[in-house]
Amino acid sequence: MKIAVAKGDGIGPEIMAAVLKIFTANNAPLEYEYVDMGKWVFDKGFSNGMTPEAKQTIESVGILFKGPMETPKGKGVKSVNVTARKTWNTYANKRVFQTLHGVDTVFSKAGIPIDITIVRENIEDTYGGVEHMLTHDVALSRRFITRPGSLQVIRYAFEMAKKKNARRITCSHKANIMKITDGLFLECFYEVAEEYPQLKADDIIVDDLCMKLVTRPDTFDVVVLTNLQGDIVSDLCAGLVGGLGFAPSANIGDHICIFEAVHGTAPDIAGKNIANPTALLLSGITMLRHLGMMENAAVIENALLYTLENGVHTGDFGDKSIPSVNTTQFADAVIANFGKEPSVGAKPMLPNMPATPTHFKLEKNPMLVSAEMDEEKIIGVDMFIESHEQPLVIAKKCERHAGVKFKLVSISNRGTQVWPTGSVYTNLVNQYNARFESLDGEPLFQQDIIGLYVSLSGNFKICSFELLNMWGDKKAYSLAQGQ
Ligand code: NAI
Repeated sequence: MKIAVAKGDGIGPEIMAAVLKIFTANNAPLEYEYVDMGKWVFDKGFSNGMTPEAKQTIESVGILFKGPMETPKGKGVKSVNVTARKTWNTYANKRVFQTLHGVDTVFSKAGIPIDITIVRENIEDTYGGVEHMLTHDVALSRRFITRPGSLQVIRYAFEMAKKKNARRITCSHKANIMKITDGLFLECFYEVAEEYPQLKADDIIVDDLCMKLVTRPDTFDVVVLTNLQGDIVSDLCAGLVGGLGFAPSANIGDHICIFEAVHGTAPDIAGKNIANPTALLLSGITMLRHLGMMENAAVIENALLYTLENGVHTGDFGDKSIPSVNTTQFADAVIANFGKEPSVGAKPMLPNMPATPTHFKLEKNPMLVSAEMDEEKIIGVDMFIESHEQPLVIAKKCERHAGVKFKLVSISNRGTQVWPTGSVYTNLVNQYNARFESLDGEPLFQQDIIGLYVSLSGNFKICSFELLNMWGDKKAYSLAQGQ
């Protein structure tokens, strides 16, 4: 089985060498195609951090095993890690956090076992990185949550939960505040849940989740979240099981999958051969299972667990009274323990299975087809305007431009209504949202909106605008706070 390997930056080459040494010693049936990705590739002038040859190899083999990669700061370039995940539509980021015997944590000492799988949406949300300065003082980030994107990752989470006989699958969100975006994600969750009646499905607001994770982590099993919230919660979970050195990650797509550790390049310890290779090794073990190499995965994982249980540790964890080993020595200790099993949590020795080819070319884009059939009409527009004036003055000017098609219904500032009612205690910035609706309730045309835009631009700089749509009798926009 051919896989693409990118060693990465910082500690990447050291931990990758350790993990591949373990795979080779175990005769894992893998052939490595090394590809050029990372900071030094940016430095050579490749603006996306990978060479065209690397892209071609990864697209032809379908599996990328990668070390951490540095994103050059302040050069206006995007993270190669995020580019890779998004370009190849690895829509689900799966991170498994388990109590590791031998890695002491508050919970292991209290006898509370942890086995949490976080499934994080990996493409959308604010990670689209679509950001604009609307005025010199106001920055805007667009948050994309889509129905097909949500269904795709949620369906993956349910399938995975079913395979692992999960006790519970939980959707975490902030739909009480972001009613449209997180509301859509939550709606998709319960839609998919109906297809899996055997699984206990529930939801929790993300702040409550964080509190419960640090008090009773053992009550959770599989948790699915949107991108940013998932990113934060998964690092929190890494802390519960001993830190970033123990957090593996699999980026799953229908065509290409990427396996990597959660941690970064650790520049503070790079080049010293002291980094902990466990997270990358656990990611590699997940990759072996993904490729059907069940026996190789079990032998290596049992040897790793046995090694940890026996107190072998790198400098970043473990019993300080036992001298630490370096990265290479840690790998050698794991190799020496092939065939041994830990006293707790030994993995069953399943036979290897033929690899199921999941890798095929994307011939069409099925997500372009929308199932939404409700009648759609434009009933107004939000005009985002730059102004240093007070709401009453702005309202008077806006009303002059409303004409025979529109009425001004509200003005808000940072999402809080300031006209027709508001409070003098609301602090204002130099960007307002003037909301216009159809005067007679009749649907509007795009030309009407452009007409209003042209008219208003005589008085204001319009930073952007958004249509107010109705899908059937459902408002496809939010109300301002206080509206
Ligand atoms: P980091 O994860 O590299 O380091 C945070 C702390 O954890 C440091 O003290 C480091 O020494 C320690 N640490 C991390 N991995 C370790 C390991 N295997 N063994 C022992 N100690 C370990 O996070 P930081 O410093 O925020 O980021 C450094 C660089 O890594 C940045 O350029 C960032 O963009 C990149 N990065 C790349 C990621 C990826 O390739 N997927 C993920 C996160 C960050």
